[in-house]
Amino acid sequence: MKHLLSAADLDAATATEILDIAASMAAVSGREIKKLPTLRGRTVVNLFYEDSTRTRISFEAAAKRLSADVINFSAKGSSVAKGESLKDTAWTLQAMGADAVVIRHPASGAPHRLANWVEGSVLNAGDGTHEHPTQALLDAYTIRSRMGKIDGLQVAIVGDVLHSRVARSNVLLLTTLGAKVTLVGPPTLVPSELGEYSYDLDAVLPEADVVMMLRVQRERMTDSYFPSAREYSRRYGLDGARVRRMPDHAIVMHPGPMNRGMEITPEVADSPRSTIVEQVTNGVSVRMACLYLLLGGKHS
Ligand code: NCD
Repeated sequence: MKHLLSAADLDAATATEILDIAASMAAVSGREIKKLPTLRGRTVVNLFYEDSTRTRISFEAAAKRLSADVINFSAKGSSVAKGESLKDTAWTLQAMGADAVVIRHPASGAPHRLANWVEGSVLNAGDGTHEHPTQALLDAYTIRSRMGKIDGLQVAIVGDVLHSRVARSNVLLLTTLGAKVTLVGPPTLVPSELGEYSYDLDAVLPEADVVMMLRVQRERMTDSYFPSAREYSRRYGLDGARVRRMPDHAIVMHPGPMNRGMEITPEVADSPRSTIVEQVTNGVSVRMACLYLLLGGKHS
């Protein structure tokens, strides 16, 4: 595997291999010295055209723990702000000898285009509303470590599915790994072509092993998709009363950043069922596994 552009590129065997490698990487992250020499002398460029906290830091930590040199490139304050095209930026990265480029971009498909212009590996860290494969992998890892398996589980993905690259990648990956995914939200925010869906959260909760809440992405909304924030929370927000409808073993996930009080209450986000902090921790191990798999085999 050269690039990681879409969760659709991962078959069950490859995805499981990444999760297994991530588990060994997690053991390294638990040590006092959190570093492996694997990618010494290799260069990883973080190319971020959209704001990000956890994904950018997570990729940076992952590359550094594998001893790679990391260049952080954010579009603000760069020639991109002066109108440089993605293609020209790609040539610059190529000239600098980037072995891997981690890209986040507001346009769906940008990582696929970049992959045609650079010789190194391209990792999609979120492209528009399209995909975010490493988020799906860290979510799968988190589910497997909490529940002991993924195959056969019922997963509800709840909220602003329409604008969510996290939801798209998770539908693909979790289905490949044998889970049954139901998308839940208001009709305006749940595209029916993505898979099984429901507009009734309370009906879905008693059957769910995993409830993955999504952020309401106001910055991507051009229209009004629901009457008011209050009405949205009333029907689709996860609060204590709704959590009590879930089976005792069921977990609550959220990719972050959260709108506390909108799609999830602080009480639920900070409860023992919530995996939100673990998801961030697991993200580093999973991204280490991806970099290792894409770059580890080759030697310059
Ligand atoms: C997500 C993203 O950027 O797609 N966040 C993340 O990567 N942790 C989800 C979101 O922004 O709501």
